[in-house]
Amino acid sequence: MNLIVLIAFVLIVFFAAKPVYRLLSHKSLYPLLPKEYNFKKRRNSFKLTLKLIEERHAKVLVETGVARKGLQNTKYDGASTIVFGLWAKHHQAVLHSVDIDSAAIEEARKEVEKCDISDAVKLNTSDSVAFLKQFSGQVDFLYLDSYDYPKRDPEGQQASREHHFKEIIAIEPNLHDNSLVLIDDCGRQGGGKGLLVIKYLKDRGWKEIYKGYQVLLSK
Ligand SMILES: C[S@@+](CC[C@H](N)C(=O)[O-])C[C@H]1O[C@@H](n2cnc3c(N)ncnc32)[C@H](O)[C@@H]1O
Repeated sequence: MNLIVLIAFVLIVFFAAKPVYRLLSHKSLYPLLPKEYNFKKRRNSFKLTLKLIEERHAKVLVETGVARKGLQNTKYDGASTIVFGLWAKHHQAVLHSVDIDSAAIEEARKEVEKCDISDAVKLNTSDSVAFLKQFSGQVDFLYLDSYDYPKRDPEGQQASREHHFKEIIAIEPNLHDNSLVLIDDCGRQGGGKGLLVIKYLKDRGWKEIYKGYQVLLSK
């Protein structure tokens, strides 16, 4: 009898574990977006960022690297253009997004239209460093996620780190004491996209206020 109870218990735990694990690891950005969208490793940093840009009344948001797939890939890419574009629309702000790939911009444009946030999102086709250099006016929130950081290619990784470093140098004059800078793909081997940017900003008095897969910095 005891053996039957034990087997039944093991079976229940076995079959219940997967859905419970799924439920616990599902990380949504509700109420900004419906619960079905899982932002996984970016959820906590996105959530904190959204809270802080709200508290700081951000109006000008800038991102490098557009979310070409809209909300189709929230788990793996982050869907940043929709997340920050939606937030911008709800808060009378504007998101300026730049990408060097015109096809990515056109794909993103369709996704932005689907989400009815075209008025709040300005899409630009350009090299991000050139775009940031000519950007006029203050930037309240900056999201860096352009030049891909490859898995097993030290030269490619360094090129990605250096590109993001050039981005921060280009836009630094437009940042102010209340600006926030979020960098994607930092929790990667070799320090990820943010390695050089973070060191540079920390040397200038910025603080890491979130450190995980993404890093969020503020003065
Ligand atoms: C990782 S994806 C961006 C993902 C997006 N932020 C999201 O949440 O889905 C990186 C993008 O950076 C763009 N990119 C690469 N080099 C660039 C450069 N020099 N200037 C601007 N964009 C660049 C690529 O075309 C690509 O679309």
